[in-house]
Amino acid sequence: MTSVFSTPAPAASPADGGDDAGLAARVSALDLESKVRLLTGGTLWTLPAEPRLGLLPVRMSDGPQGVRGTGDDPGATGLLAPAPSTLAASWDPELAERLGALFGAEAVRKRVDVLLAPGINLQRTPVAGRHFEYLSEDPLLTGILAAGLVRGIQSLGVAACPKHFVANESETDRTRYRSRVDPRTLREVYLAPFETVVAEGGTWSVMSAYSGVDDGTESAPMGEHAGLLRGVLKGEWGFDGAVVSDWAATRTTGESARGGLDLVMPGPDGPWGDALVAAVRAGEVPESMVDDKVVRLVRLAGRVGRLDSSPARPAVPARPDTAEYDLLRETAVRGTVVLRNEAGLLPLAPAGLARVALIGPNAVAPYFQGGGSAYVPPVRLVGFAKGLRAALPPSTEVTVHRGGDARLHPPFADPAMLADPETGGAGVRAEFLGADGAVLGSVVRETGDWGEFRAFPAGTRRVVLRTDVTLTGEGTHELEFGAVGRFEILADGERVAAGDDDRGVDLVLDSSHHHPEGITVGFPVADAEVPRRVALTLDLTVVDADGYGHFVTAHLRHTAPGTGTAEEIEAAVEAARAADVAVVVVGTNEDVESEGWDRTTLALPGAQDELVRRVAEANPRTVVVVNAGAPVLLPWAEDVPALLWAWLPGQEAGHALADVLLGRAEAAGRLPWTLPARAADVPVPDAVPVDGVVEYREGLHVGHRGWDRAGLAPAFPFGHGLGWTEWAYEAVTADADGAEVAVRVTNTGARAGREVVQVYLEAPQDGPDRPLRVLAGFASVTAEPGATVTATIRVPSRVYQVWDVAAGAWTTPAGAYRLHVGRSSRDLRLTAAVEIGTA
Ligand code: BGC
Repeated sequence: MTSVFSTPAPAASPADGGDDAGLAARVSALDLESKVRLLTGGTLWTLPAEPRLGLLPVRMSDGPQGVRGTGDDPGATGLLAPAPSTLAASWDPELAERLGALFGAEAVRKRVDVLLAPGINLQRTPVAGRHFEYLSEDPLLTGILAAGLVRGIQSLGVAACPKHFVANESETDRTRYRSRVDPRTLREVYLAPFETVVAEGGTWSVMSAYSGVDDGTESAPMGEHAGLLRGVLKGEWGFDGAVVSDWAATRTTGESARGGLDLVMPGPDGPWGDALVAAVRAGEVPESMVDDKVVRLVRLAGRVGRLDSSPARPAVPARPDTAEYDLLRETAVRGTVVLRNEAGLLPLAPAGLARVALIGPNAVAPYFQGGGSAYVPPVRLVGFAKGLRAALPPSTEVTVHRGGDARLHPPFADPAMLADPETGGAGVRAEFLGADGAVLGSVVRETGDWGEFRAFPAGTRRVVLRTDVTLTGEGTHELEFGAVGRFEILADGERVAAGDDDRGVDLVLDSSHHHPEGITVGFPVADAEVPRRVALTLDLTVVDADGYGHFVTAHLRHTAPGTGTAEEIEAAVEAARAADVAVVVVGTNEDVESEGWDRTTLALPGAQDELVRRVAEANPRTVVVVNAGAPVLLPWAEDVPALLWAWLPGQEAGHALADVLLGRAEAAGRLPWTLPARAADVPVPDAVPVDGVVEYREGLHVGHRGWDRAGLAPAFPFGHGLGWTEWAYEAVTADADGAEVAVRVTNTGARAGREVVQVYLEAPQDGPDRPLRVLAGFASVTAEPGATVTATIRVPSRVYQVWDVAAGAWTTPAGAYRLHVGRSSRDLRLTAAVEIGTA
């Protein structure tokens, strides 16, 4: 059998800082205080410098949808890639490597040295809030693509930081829960992608998770988990890079320092500093551990060119260029999955299209990227309407209809409704009050959006917003107030809402600062001719969020009486009836998919199911496009002729969709996760900790393995995707030890295409834990119509192995194995047998 992984592990070399013999000596010559100072961030995004080690400040930034930057450059924008599951849907490590290199170049451009990406937790449950940010539900697919991304990022001399080590698959109460995972599942499923990014990606850093792990031997927050950080990651796997904490995750001194964490972020304050110096002096933490952490951080700095002796970084274009836009577009296209295409409706022939009805809440307001730390201010955005318009001949008329609002919150109040009570001019007046109530300043802004407002003088303790709202039109107007922390809201002098949440930094960590809960109050207006005026006061106490600074958040939203979804759907249906083709873009939005919380339903928000049904009834040529990062239920899927999954497609969304719809490129994606037909079938339906514990009860049966084990039929299985052509599977052979599989396929359709040939291993069923089948390997081939090609797929030896808990070692059970090959986990066409003997 070949090596555990498909390619040899990259060796550490003196040139990349991996083996600097003099470094340890120079580090241990520093005094303890100076060394400990290097182990906590200098700011929110940077590490401290140390001239005696030639160490320059290392700068970090979030991914994985791009490189957000450090905020030092106000207004800076950047390349916005499709959300990671899109890349995973390409099943293409070579594309991952190219995209990684794009991130690396963008990082160099933004003077970022460590990119906090990729996210390689698994999509264990479809409701997970960060589902869009992760790659796949499958450990093998995740690991192979993540290693490609890491190699690409690091090829530019920028460190990748795969996250969040490990078993961090829920967002609910995310900084506190423990994941209880049996050791075999941990090894074979959740640690596996991390093992791959170390061995095949050669990653230079890893981020430890907020959550903790209880593996039966040790139960600890991840930043303190010695068995996993020091034992497995650094010990067994030989990881010589730095373990970085998740932001504001570290709460202890000795435990985390001994556990194997190397760097506390952010800084400059934190639980290490003087407390760690004292712990070392008290003999609670060996100084050699501090030295090892510093060596790892200096090694990291050397690898990313942040020692004063480092060679210059590779030159990259000063501004994003068109080749980069093209790669983002290619990724979105390659990831688009054709779920259904009856009677060859797709691709559309542009010549025959006189009128196209573009419909749906996401047609009007595409959801380009997921929310939370991954957010990137995009350099440009090509929406679906713009992309289609640009691609269709001028003679084609494109009509656009929303067909109802799918937001959970109404829009911000129209600035025209808001008047400054002092001057009567437009706007909302903010007064900044110090601890003693003295007014330190004021400002007037014409908006109801005071989200994460920080532009107040130092010493401000309260921000008091005042505005007079004019409500025009008879009926009940609804004002929705959203605020975080401690606040009080008065309407015409009467208290209508209040909050007393003093969790401070936790308001950032669960994203409430972006998504405060709404409090809705109705204001009747009796006479259409006589507007009502409401004097509002929003008295907000400044939130102190540690390393994340000080801010207030307030949202003022408005719903006018009689704003109706029914009328919008009616108009959309009429447009569909009059068109040659109706393209309905449905999906999620920032109210639904984000870091910081898990979803409570898989249903599409708003009246989108009704919209699709009505449009499909009105026009038999209806194409439905799903603009979502994570599974949503599509109860009408079998009633529409064509169905595409277009993800959160990033800045080139519209161009990519036009390429696909008009057949300029093949939508060759395959689902990297299972799409449920009914919520009740989902093997892991939620991610909610019970008494602080998330039980990984399903064990090894994650994702498609769980569906197979339960014998349930999903709406569309893992690995499914039709593309534009058809394939015949003709022959399969496997070498004697099952390490390489060759599959002969013929393109039997009328168009050139790309096929992702998938191999699933069926092991001897030596117990109930053994999954019925696991993904064992995959490879893409392309072929012209009628052409026959052979896909060669490597099967890593790890796929045959099981973690023997008692022995603490990998073993390969002897017996008869079967390698099934096919188009998806449920469309298996050929089988090869492999006999594994006793070692
Ligand atoms: C997220 C990380 C992110 C970090 C810095 C945390 O809340 O979990 O993924 O890298 O913030 O923004």
